[in-house]
Amino acid sequence: MKKKPSPPRPRNCYTGDETKPGRIICGDALIELQQMASGSVQLVIADPPYFQVLDHAWDQQWPDAEAYLDWSMTWLGEAMRVLCANGLIYCFGQLGKREHTFLHLMAAATHRWQFHDLITWDRVVGYNERRDSFTPATELILVLRKSAKPKFNKSAVREPYDAATIKEYLRDKRYQDQAARRRHLAAGKFATNLWRIPSLKGRSGEKCGHPTQKPLKLIERIVLTSSDPGDLVLDPFLGSGTTAMVAKQHGRRWLGIEMEPAYVKIARQRLKAKING
Ligand SMILES: C[S@@+](CC[C@H](N)C(=O)[O-])C[C@H]1O[C@@H](n2cnc3c(N)ncnc32)[C@H](O)[C@@H]1O
Repeated sequence: MKKKPSPPRPRNCYTGDETKPGRIICGDALIELQQMASGSVQLVIADPPYFQVLDHAWDQQWPDAEAYLDWSMTWLGEAMRVLCANGLIYCFGQLGKREHTFLHLMAAATHRWQFHDLITWDRVVGYNERRDSFTPATELILVLRKSAKPKFNKSAVREPYDAATIKEYLRDKRYQDQAARRRHLAAGKFATNLWRIPSLKGRSGEKCGHPTQKPLKLIERIVLTSSDPGDLVLDPFLGSGTTAMVAKQHGRRWLGIEMEPAYVKIARQRLKAKING
C-alpha cells in the first residue's frame, strides 16, 4: 500500500522532539506560538512588553490598554495551549507607571486559567519614576498552571540556614523526629514567594545592552524548580537571551522568540560567549 504523504510541516513548528538543545526564532511571538505543537513545552517564562512604560517602539505597539490586554490574553492562550499538562507559565508584570494594566491582566488571566502563585520580585533598588507616590521597587510574576498537579520541585532552590539559626532551631523540642529536623536544617530553608534579588545595574558584569535584562539568578529559580534536565523551556519574549542562558547551563532544551533582530544578535553573542568562556 502506498504510504500517505505526511502533511507539510508549518514554518518553524517546534514539535518538542528536535535534536538541537536550543533555538532562537527571530519573529513575532503570537505568530510563532500559533505554529507550535500543542502540549510540547514544559515551562514558559514570559517577560512581555510592559505597555507604554519604556520609550522603545516594542513597548508602544498598542493604541490603548484594551488593545494591549486583548493581545496579552491571545498570546497567553496560545502559551497555555503549547504547555504540557503539568507545565507552568511564569509571566512578569511591569514596574512603575502602569501596574494597574498588569492588575487587569492578572484578573482576566486568573479568571480564565488556573492560578498557581504570585511572586514578588524585590529589585532592592527603586525605580525613580513617580513624584507623587512611593518609589516602585518590585515586579510581580504571575504563575499559571494547566492542571492541579504541576511539575514543581520545592527543594531545588533551598537557601542555607546560618549556624546560629540551626543551633537555635535545634533547641526547639516540639519536633518529634529530630533526625528529620536536622536533615531539613542541613538542606536549607525553602524559598518564599518574595524574591530579593538586585536588578542589574549599568556596571554589572552581566549587563549586555538590553534595557530590561533580567538577572540570571532570578530566572534560575524558575528553571530549577519548574523543569527537569531535558525538558523544553520556552521564552516567547527572549530579549537578551537570559532564559536561554539559564536553560543551557542547567541542561534544559530551550526555544526563544524575539522580534528585534538587534536583541537576537545580543542573545546569540551571549550564548556564544558562554560556550567559549
Ligand atoms: C521585557 S523584554 C524581555 C527581556 C528579557 N527577559 C531579558 O532578560 O533580556 C520584552 C522583549 O519582547 C520583545 N517583543 C516585543 N513584542 C514582541 C513580539 N510581538 N514578539 C516577540 N518579541 C517581542 C522586545 O523586543 C523585548 O526584547
